[in-house]
Amino acid sequence: MTPPQLTEAEALELLAQHYGLTGQLFTLPGERDHNFQLCLASGEKNTFKVVNAEVPLESLKTEIRAMQHLHSILGGLVPNPLADQAGRFISQGSLQNGSTCWLRLQSWQPGTPLAEFRPHTTELFHSVGHLMGRVATSLSTLAVPDPNPELPWHPDQALQIVEEGLSLVTDPLLKNFLEQALRLYDRYGRPLETDLPRSLIQNDANDYNVLVHGKLEGPPELSLIDFGDMVVSWTCAEAAVTLAYTLLGQIAPWKALQATLSGFSQARPLSLLEAEFVWPMALMRLGVSIVMAAKQIQEQPENEYLLISQQPIRELLQRLKDLSLEEGIARSRFACGHSPIHRKVSLETILEKQFFFPVMGQALTPDNTLLLPLGIESPSSDWLSGEVEEQSARIQQAIESAQKIFALGLYDEIRLCYTAPEFQQDLESRTVHLGLDVFRLAGTPIFAPLDGAFVTVHDNAQEQDYGPTLMLQHEDLNGENFFTLYGHLDPECLALWQPGDFVQAGTRIARIGASPRNGNWPPHLHLQVIGHRMGWETDFPGVALPSEQSFWKQLSPNPYRLLGIQEQSWVEPEGLPQDLLARRLHIMGRNLSLSYKKPLTILRGEGVYLIDSLGRRFVDCVNNVAHVGHCHPRVVEAQRKQSSLLNTNTRYLHPELVRYAERLCGLFPDPLNVCFLVCTGSEANELALRLAQAHTQAQGMVVVDVGYHGHTKSLIDLSPYKHNGPGGKGAPDWVRTTPMPDAYRGVYREHHPDLGSAYGGKVIEHAESLAKSETGLAGFICESILSCGGQIVLPENYLQTAYAGVRRLGGLCIADEVQVGFGRVGKTFWGFELQGVVPDIVTLGKPIGNGHPLAAVITTTEIAEAFANGMEYFNTFGGNPVSAAVGNAVLDVIEEENLQKHALTLGNYLLERWKGMSKRCPALGQVRGEGLFLGMEFVADPVQRIPCAARATYVVERMKAQGFLLSTDGPDHNVIKFKPPLVFPDSEAERLCNNLEQILREVPLQLT
Ligand SMILES: Cc1ncc(COP(=O)(O)O)c(C=O)c1O
Repeated sequence: MTPPQLTEAEALELLAQHYGLTGQLFTLPGERDHNFQLCLASGEKNTFKVVNAEVPLESLKTEIRAMQHLHSILGGLVPNPLADQAGRFISQGSLQNGSTCWLRLQSWQPGTPLAEFRPHTTELFHSVGHLMGRVATSLSTLAVPDPNPELPWHPDQALQIVEEGLSLVTDPLLKNFLEQALRLYDRYGRPLETDLPRSLIQNDANDYNVLVHGKLEGPPELSLIDFGDMVVSWTCAEAAVTLAYTLLGQIAPWKALQATLSGFSQARPLSLLEAEFVWPMALMRLGVSIVMAAKQIQEQPENEYLLISQQPIRELLQRLKDLSLEEGIARSRFACGHSPIHRKVSLETILEKQFFFPVMGQALTPDNTLLLPLGIESPSSDWLSGEVEEQSARIQQAIESAQKIFALGLYDEIRLCYTAPEFQQDLESRTVHLGLDVFRLAGTPIFAPLDGAFVTVHDNAQEQDYGPTLMLQHEDLNGENFFTLYGHLDPECLALWQPGDFVQAGTRIARIGASPRNGNWPPHLHLQVIGHRMGWETDFPGVALPSEQSFWKQLSPNPYRLLGIQEQSWVEPEGLPQDLLARRLHIMGRNLSLSYKKPLTILRGEGVYLIDSLGRRFVDCVNNVAHVGHCHPRVVEAQRKQSSLLNTNTRYLHPELVRYAERLCGLFPDPLNVCFLVCTGSEANELALRLAQAHTQAQGMVVVDVGYHGHTKSLIDLSPYKHNGPGGKGAPDWVRTTPMPDAYRGVYREHHPDLGSAYGGKVIEHAESLAKSETGLAGFICESILSCGGQIVLPENYLQTAYAGVRRLGGLCIADEVQVGFGRVGKTFWGFELQGVVPDIVTLGKPIGNGHPLAAVITTTEIAEAFANGMEYFNTFGGNPVSAAVGNAVLDVIEEENLQKHALTLGNYLLERWKGMSKRCPALGQVRGEGLFLGMEFVADPVQRIPCAARATYVVERMKAQGFLLSTDGPDHNVIKFKPPLVFPDSEAERLCNNLEQILREVPLQLT
């Protein structure tokens, strides 16, 4: 049935005639109806539908009734039917071509079609499922006859439509899918048909009928349009249809399934049978779509709407091609809150109750077995580092020195050793171990624990795979099946057995394989129990994604009993405490903040990566402390080595300390040639303040607005970021605050002819006022690039002007390099050098020790002398030999890895890319910075430059979801700061830019 043909002028006439309305009309796409958006003079919008007269009046009446019913329950989530002048919801109209049609008017639903909305997150699909669950629940209370019993999209007809249309489809990918879908439906769907509850369903939650209202915060709001395909069918088919369309989204199919069905079943619980039916029915719906498109494209090649859903289907089928379709049933059961597999007695109970011949020939006990923790939180998880021969030797030696026979790798451990591309999926990596690993010499025999028949005899020969693998099928005490899997075997077993061969309990079935033939691991057996193969043939996952941990653990419980182990607690990994957050909040000061809406538990660092407790790798984009990379081996080793020799204080001579002090001072221009080593940036600035006050015999300081210099009492006084922020008491009378030299939103902006002098003049004004005051002028402290202020680069000539004025008045100039020093700014080694000045005092911190508590003050001999007034300067930990060794190692790495040059090249590249993005995305008002100290400022209006923290936070959270850790700063929290470890790889910079580019195009970020 085609839409009635009419012009907009004709439609306007009909509107005036029947509804007494006039306005502007815009044609909308439609398969059956000719649809228009009507914009009334009042600004209100409606949808005007001109319906083919062949559509039976009764079915239209049911549609209106259902919409009214839904509107009364769900309100604005669905359109409200509007009456004509005679009070009718369906009017009959006459078209100029002599035919008649039905006319309908309804309220307009704002929003972006799901198909066009971005981002497609799992939360969004959950919301779509939830909305359709609510729709299904609401419609099920409306008893009406089937409005469209003949509809080809009717779930009741799906099987027949696909079977009959199969011959029309010639494309091998589509055809093969249809055949598989038919087989699956026939086996798993059809037998359930008669037992499922039926009701009216909307039956068309396609990605053009679900509208999304994206917001910067909170879950998106959704609404539903188009009730023309409603039918009476299995209620759960509503979930299947919804799923068929959300599968067409951008993320992994199983994640879309989990999100959609868990959302649906939260609103409309699906029984076990319904949950099992959903997947085969969803595949049939995709099948109908393929068949209908093939048919309709033949009939109406010009109707673009028909083509819309075809490309995403092809993409989805490409993705499904490599997955076991049967797995969808277990996944659906699980997503709907049921156990993924159907068993009368749980596998755990069977494992407990049944007797097994021990797989290694003897039971593993604490006496003969060494536990080998390989989990992320275990410091000894480096068992598997280095070449495989080293790993094998290390493990064998550990077994021997502990006088044991076996070593055991644990079940449910989060492991980082699975690094091959096969283990990476989406943004996650498969890290959760689903079996037990028994380490012993190659050749060690392995025995069948129970009578069974081989279902898999296969060489999974890829690197890091199982190598030669066997799988046995067993019958348990209750006559139900389960499977046991043996991986990393000696290849002899491949010749020994064939699928179908039967073995008795206690038969030697294989031997432990040697590397590299065993998948290239140290010799060990991977033993796993499997409740259902879900269509997997020669393989079965031995590690799972953390987000799917509970699904896979139900399929593969801990197989400890097969090894004769009695006490499960003995072989359970300790794991992380679940209540870490609550305990931290309880035991630690409340104003210690945590990043992100959902805080991360970070357990490991490696170069530019931070790795969390689930083994997820995040790219650290804000940690300028880990300057040369997290846990740089050179720095770690220097620290370890010196710690094992000596760690005392500066009251003894030590060559490492003197060497470091000389080396550090050597990096500064004259006359900066004396250093003090301290432990934190705060200590450094505190000491700098004392030096300045001692030298000038005055107290007053000029500080830059929104500056932060440390957490001590005097430094809070010097930090407007704190004393003017929440809980602050403002500046004391000895501190004067000069405005940030912000060329984007400050008092003087980019078109000013000499910004540096203008803002520098402000510093001098304050210095003069202090010099005249009782406190006098001790100096001026300024970060070399403003960090908390929002990554603001000082305008040219700023420090030159300010320093000259301050010095004229007898004050000293302090450069706070705690954030930006050590080559980060790229063009120069120190940030102040960008301004062509030499400060009187420089303070260093954060990056200086790559995470080790080390900081420094560098000054002139003259100032240091003025400070040496007889009072000893002693700092228990400052300048200890371990810190000195660490400091030296950091300098070595900066030099050897050419990190300053890298900061310059990569920083310039990123700035260029981001500038391009800022042109395309008005919400990204400005990008700025030097080297790898960059900022992105977000605004609500690029002309007025109104700051928009919500946009910056949105980008930070979205980038976190893509695996990049960023954070915001600036007085209005609308600047994203980028100050990563300098070892930031070019490849990650590329990935960061590509992700950022996509996120900046997402609907919620757009300015309206
Ligand atoms: C510019 C600046 N100075 C000083 C400090 C204080 O350093 P710390 O936290 O090591 O005491 C910080 C810390 O963030 C800083 O950003």
